[in-house]
Amino acid sequence: MKQLFEPLKINSMVCRNRFLRSATWEALSDDQGHITNKQKKIYTELAKNEVGLICTGYARILEEEQPNERMMGIYNDSFIPEYQALTKSVHKYGAKIMMQLAYGGTKTTYQTNSRRIFAPGDIAEKSTGTVGIPMTKEDIHYVTEAYVQAALRVKESGFDAVQIHGGHSYLLNQFLSPYYNNRSDEYGGSITNRIRIIREIYTGIRQAAGEDFPILIKITCSDFFEGGLTFKEVLPICRELEDMGFDAIEVSGNIHGKANSMSGQIFDGYPLTRGGYFIEYAKVIAEEVNIPVLVTGGVSHFDKTLDWLQNSRIAGFGFCRALLTEPNLIKRWKDGDMTPARCLHCSKCRTREGNYCTVFHKGSF
Ligand SMILES: Cc1cc2nc3c(=O)[nH]c(=O)nc-3n(C[C@H](O)[C@H](O)[C@H](O)COP(=O)(O)O)c2cc1C
Ligand code: SF4
Repeated sequence: MKQLFEPLKINSMVCRNRFLRSATWEALSDDQGHITNKQKKIYTELAKNEVGLICTGYARILEEEQPNERMMGIYNDSFIPEYQALTKSVHKYGAKIMMQLAYGGTKTTYQTNSRRIFAPGDIAEKSTGTVGIPMTKEDIHYVTEAYVQAALRVKESGFDAVQIHGGHSYLLNQFLSPYYNNRSDEYGGSITNRIRIIREIYTGIRQAAGEDFPILIKITCSDFFEGGLTFKEVLPICRELEDMGFDAIEVSGNIHGKANSMSGQIFDGYPLTRGGYFIEYAKVIAEEVNIPVLVTGGVSHFDKTLDWLQNSRIAGFGFCRALLTEPNLIKRWKDGDMTPARCLHCSKCRTREGNYCTVFHKGSF
């Protein structure tokens, strides 16, 4: 029987357990994306508190592209020394750490007037109304190369793995989505075409970073809106991701803010589940592919999570907000206090001073 507190191997990386801190933008970096002492403290605390694999918040791969304020950067070599110090500090406490790379695109209202924002086509992003510049093939190669160079810096910085952000309506999700991708060239149309940019990014990173460097991807299991990417299409997409060589897939959705109220609703034949929104989708994906599948979103109960681990092929579980409320959640469970996570999943964790749990940590981190 699989256990939550037993190691999880992803390519050459062995995590001490099956608990992932899923990517969390803390909004605590400086304006250039350099990390602050507050962030170092957060990551070291998570490592001390038994998280198996810590994913950073999304990091900018290009200086001029930034979907949100005070996110991390990895767009030139000046970042390497500070991340070397960060990864060293996390490794001291037995955790693994990976960096998430993102090109945001049009899911942003941040400084949209002063930036060139690329998109697959000319469709306004649903939640922001932002319209991007449809990418030429040259633009696609430019962004692809930025991913590759950023991933090399990730490796050089001592991170154990890199994660490509392929979800949450950011650029790569938009390429996959028939709603946003209205291209008629080899980057639009069929699934093979819509996934091409991810294939090129993956291939570039693999060739540069070597066979044993773990490359993960986070995806949305559905766009959860009319005309968007459906779960039916996500299944062949996951098979293609495995064929390319991705080492693991993290299954997410773009609706975590509203997922509690949508619980029980059925999309593509599967329900959203309170306490693990995308579990039913991840179970099916994990049957389809032979690489580790992790799932993130609303996970709160140790017993339920153990049951899902033991009665499906899901390999691991991600937590974002629960670890903002209780950075010691995983250690607490390991020490035998199995009370569910205290987080209410109310999504009141964004403030001008940084993203933290405003319900249980009023005014502090
Ligand atoms: C404050 C905050 C920051 C987040 N930052 C990121 C991010 O940088 N990259 C990402 O893929 N997801 C990000 N997410 C989404 C989470 O990783 C996760 O998918 C989502 O919150 C659902 O998981 P949870 O219910 O455990 O919070 C963020 C969520 C929150 C609340
Ligand atoms: S503000 Fe709400 S969702 Fe965010 S960490 Fe606190 S309890 Fe959880």
